[in-house]
Amino acid sequence: MSKIVSVIQQKGGVGKTTLTVHLAHELKRMKKKLKVVIADADPQQSSYKWIERGRKNDIDGVGIKAVGADGEGKKLKKELNAIDADIILIDLPPAIESLSLRAALYADVMLVPIGASALDIEAARGAIDVCEEAMELDDTKSMLLIPSKVRAGTTAGKELRSLLKKWGTVSKATIGLRVHYSDAATAGEGVGTYAKNSQAHKEMKSLAKEVLGLLKI
Ligand SMILES: Nc1ncnc2c1ncn2[C@@H]1O[C@H](COP(=O)(O)OP(=O)(O)OP(=O)(O)O)[C@@H](O)[C@H]1O
Ligand SMILES: [Mg+2]
Repeated sequence: MSKIVSVIQQKGGVGKTTLTVHLAHELKRMKKKLKVVIADADPQQSSYKWIERGRKNDIDGVGIKAVGADGEGKKLKKELNAIDADIILIDLPPAIESLSLRAALYADVMLVPIGASALDIEAARGAIDVCEEAMELDDTKSMLLIPSKVRAGTTAGKELRSLLKKWGTVSKATIGLRVHYSDAATAGEGVGTYAKNSQAHKEMKSLAKEVLGLLKI
């Protein structure tokens, strides 16, 4: 059975898709034998288009499948079961509605990217509540809070980490606001190939290691 990683946040533009696609590429780079597939549940299809842009190079071999077209995810379980993968990462739309609730229910690991502004922090609570409910139902699940789009060396970034620690486990890596992340999207790549050994790549490597640990892979 596939291990499921759901990227959940009701706030738009916080970096869900960026995190999902780079992490998928890095997981594949680290574990070449594993089949890594992104299940794109967002009608914007951002991760779908990203992977398709990179298809001509097909560097890492990350798979992509659109799911949850009904907007509610009534068939999500079936759709996930039909994907031949060792790890499925679900990229969700910016909402905490039935699709995200189901994605939390079926996840082994839930990732919540959170930006450093007050608005971002306030908006994160809804996603964390959903993850906590899912963990109450199944204590084998885990949640990782991920500081996202953090400007290097800012007080806001440091404060974000200490605040999030009160709410749950915070990833060792802070995902910086870095042009390599967004430029790699234009190229349809992950940072591991687009900007190997860059700071962005180091962050993603650290996060991928942590996620593999949580998935017990
Ligand atoms: N760590 C980062 N560094 C620099 N730019 C980033 C980073 N993360 C995301 N971005 C940029 O921020 C914008 C929004 O990112 P992204 O699409 O990943 O967010 P999202 O949460 O998936 O948005 P949506 O809610 O619309 O699905 C994009 O232009 C993306 O390139
Ligand atoms: Mg997105």
